[in-house]
Amino acid sequence: MTKILAFAGSTRKGSFNQAIVNVAAEGAREAGAEVTVIDLADYQMPLFNEDEEAKFGIPEKAQAFKALLMSHDGFLIASPEYNSSYPALLKNAIDWASRMEEGEKPLQAYRGKVAGIMAASAGGLGGMRVLVVLRMLLENLGTIVLPNQKAIAKVNTLMEDGEITDVKAIKQLKTLGKETAELTAKLG
Ligand SMILES: Cc1cc2nc3c(=O)[nH]c(=O)nc-3n(C[C@H](O)[C@H](O)[C@H](O)COP(=O)(O)O)c2cc1C
Repeated sequence: MTKILAFAGSTRKGSFNQAIVNVAAEGAREAGAEVTVIDLADYQMPLFNEDEEAKFGIPEKAQAFKALLMSHDGFLIASPEYNSSYPALLKNAIDWASRMEEGEKPLQAYRGKVAGIMAASAGGLGGMRVLVVLRMLLENLGTIVLPNQKAIAKVNTLMEDGEITDVKAIKQLKTLGKETAELTAKLG
């Protein structure tokens, strides 16, 4: 079965991006994929430092995150937009998981994988600018990013009790999840 890992680049309680990735994950599940949704709060890792890595190796939580990426065929990633780009939290986790250890192939966590990307913001652009750089980052790591992507604007008006309730947004996010699952299955 196609395995998809879903996560958001935010550890904020009540994160908009965790809310949208949960919906996309549901769409992937409905399309037949086995989906694991994680919270990066459970994978806290230090800011990457090459000297520390040389001394102590890859920290346990970073290894666990990399192992999850490696054991899944595709990803659903929702990223906040911080000053037009991705948050340090997300980039740091991606950087740690890009480090090769003995017995691994270069960029094994990323190469040949598929990603569906999305963003959410209370602003009018929905974080669409972060998707440009997130797409570039993932593709440079060897991950195939779906042409379809979703930036959900004014997301705070589309939710109730921390969950997305707007029918149109749910449909768009589920479609992105479904398409990610389908392309991942095709390439698998
Ligand atoms: C440092 C910083 C920079 C931000 N820059 C942007 C931005 O460029 N565009 C935008 O739409 N929102 C921006 N925001 C607002 C975020 O979209 C908002 O904090 C959002 O709730 C983060 O996503 P989350 O709910 O998943 O944590 C910024 C927030 C922070 C803390």
